[in-house]
Amino acid sequence: MSAGARTALRGARVSMTGSGEPEERLVTGREAVPRAGRGKVVVRVEAAGVSFAEVQMLQHLHPFPPRFPFVPGYDLVGRITEVGEGVTGWRAGDRVAAMPRYGAWQEYVQTPARHLAPVPEGLDAAEAVALVTNGVSACQMLDRLPLKAGDTVLVHGASGGVGTLLTQLAVHRGLRVIGTASPAKHAAVRELGAEPLDYRGGGLPSAVRRLAPGGVQAVFDHIGGRGLDDGWAMLARGGTLVSFDSSVAGFRPGQWFRPHVPALLRTGRRFAARLLGLTGGRRMTMYYVKPGPAFDAALSLLYGLLAEGVLTPRIAGRHPLEEAAAALRALLEGRSVGKHVLIP
Ligand SMILES: NC(=O)c1ccc[n+]([C@@H]2O[C@H](COP(=O)([O-])OP(=O)(O)OC[C@H]3O[C@@H](n4cnc5c(N)ncnc54)[C@H](OP(=O)(O)O)[C@@H]3O)[C@@H](O)[C@H]2O)c1
Repeated sequence: MSAGARTALRGARVSMTGSGEPEERLVTGREAVPRAGRGKVVVRVEAAGVSFAEVQMLQHLHPFPPRFPFVPGYDLVGRITEVGEGVTGWRAGDRVAAMPRYGAWQEYVQTPARHLAPVPEGLDAAEAVALVTNGVSACQMLDRLPLKAGDTVLVHGASGGVGTLLTQLAVHRGLRVIGTASPAKHAAVRELGAEPLDYRGGGLPSAVRRLAPGGVQAVFDHIGGRGLDDGWAMLARGGTLVSFDSSVAGFRPGQWFRPHVPALLRTGRRFAARLLGLTGGRRMTMYYVKPGPAFDAALSLLYGLLAEGVLTPRIAGRHPLEEAAAALRALLEGRSVGKHVLIP
């Protein structure tokens, strides 16, 4: 293709223009396809994930939010169309995954080559992208704990993008899973192999105690706030509370750091108490997914499990870019089981 024709090529993209409602703040347009800069590649996106991070970005409540306007989209699967100067190990045509944190909701993305991971041919693009951020997070959170078959764990939001995968992986490892979800999604949570509980209504700690009188070996919490104290109280001796977000409601747009303060304070306090031997061997950790060799290794393992049929990512919906607002609205209103995916 000549340079002129290449410059004239335009690709569709979704921009988030500010805080507010998805229908008002997500705008679809077309822009010139980027050229691959030094150390970067251009990827033609096959599938991009819709995640709770975009809900938080829309409310300006995501940690370290990008400035408006920007192209959202935490993760993607696609095919390299152009390789920039200095890039080694990748060629045009290679199928790749990336987690740029924003920028994936467009046809063509320029992204650093050092953060790419290979995607096997033959995998469904939507299922493959569901495993990028959500799958790697689920896998790494489980891997970092000293759990053994027969242990009981509590997965909050077992119906969500992360929760459905965390539940499947835990069940595959022989763990007993108690999964919280709203009642309409209990059948779906049961199908995944977990015992569903409603997180609403305040009776969760005693409901968990009834199912696991000695406590649970791990609690995976993405809500934060005071619920972390309930999670801590549910732990058996030697158990771990993993805080992987603070999506607790009640904050105004722009207060992006405040939801995380209670989790940080509790983690620090409990770390000190553990050093003093005051926690009965219980501990609290925080998890945040990041690219790198460990990420690539986890993703490769997950793609193996997907190919073997061990993992079945739940795809809540496949949408063209123009339906990004509808996908985000479904997430915002808690109407989905699993992951929404945009297919540019
Ligand atoms: N730390 C990291 O590296 C990392 C990585 C990936 C994701 N995350 C975070 O993980 C969270 C989940 O992400 P996602 O993409 O899976 O979101 P999602 O698909 O929207 O799922 C969220 C789930 O949370 C449940 N939920 C809502 N309120 C709840 C409450 N008070 N208690 C327990 N569960 C509740 C919902 O259940 P119902 O719909 O049944 O009400 C839903 O299944 C988000 O906060 C995201 O930012 C963190």
